[in-house]
Amino acid sequence: MILDFENLSEGKKYSTLSNTIFPRPIAWITTQDEEIINLAPFSYFTPLSSEPPLLIVSIAHKEDGTQKDTFANILKHKVCTINLAHKDLLGDLINSSEELPHEISECEKFNIETKHILAGFPPMVANAKCALFCEFVKTIDLGNRYEPLILEIKKIYIDDDSVDDKNHIHLENIGRVGMEFLVDSVRVH
Ligand SMILES: Cc1cc2nc3c(=O)[nH]c(=O)nc-3n(C[C@H](O)[C@H](O)[C@H](O)COP(=O)(O)O)c2cc1C
Repeated sequence: MILDFENLSEGKKYSTLSNTIFPRPIAWITTQDEEIINLAPFSYFTPLSSEPPLLIVSIAHKEDGTQKDTFANILKHKVCTINLAHKDLLGDLINSSEELPHEISECEKFNIETKHILAGFPPMVANAKCALFCEFVKTIDLGNRYEPLILEIKKIYIDDDSVDDKNHIHLENIGRVGMEFLVDSVRVH
């Protein structure tokens, strides 16, 4: 079967991409504006380079053309914290994708505990085992609803119990496949 993207609806393009290019990691992003802590997941997310340590997250504008809170907060404050979620946090991650007014925090509404561990960066999800503390680099104008952000990782938190005595990191991040999630990923050599 050959699918011609010229003849596919936006929804079919999305489902085709997300069921072929997978698993996609999920950037579960905390940002802060005044006292309001915002949290939302994004799976158009991938690392770009390790020197410098850059990654990209592609955030769409809302249907009405306004910016999502995560995008607006990153552009305003130039920092964000990307939490990497494990399976126990899946319910919280899905809840936090609800589109709420700017002044309502997903963390408060859904009782998702956060902790401030680094000055100058938004808090991380308290039960996450890993978080990337990032600075804004630039956006890319694609001329459509998506506006990818390039971010530079400045510091990484890794839960001590996830690092073995040889300094190898063992995380069990969840990923996205189509509209579903991948948990318990098995590594093979
Ligand atoms: C697993 C998952 C992945 C998502 N990935 C993206 C994405 O890559 N880009 C995007 O714009 N929205 C994505 N969304 C939708 C956003 O999470 C949603 O629009 C959210 O309300 C944005 O919140 P904010 O306005 O607080 O930033 C995703 C949702 C889920 C559940």
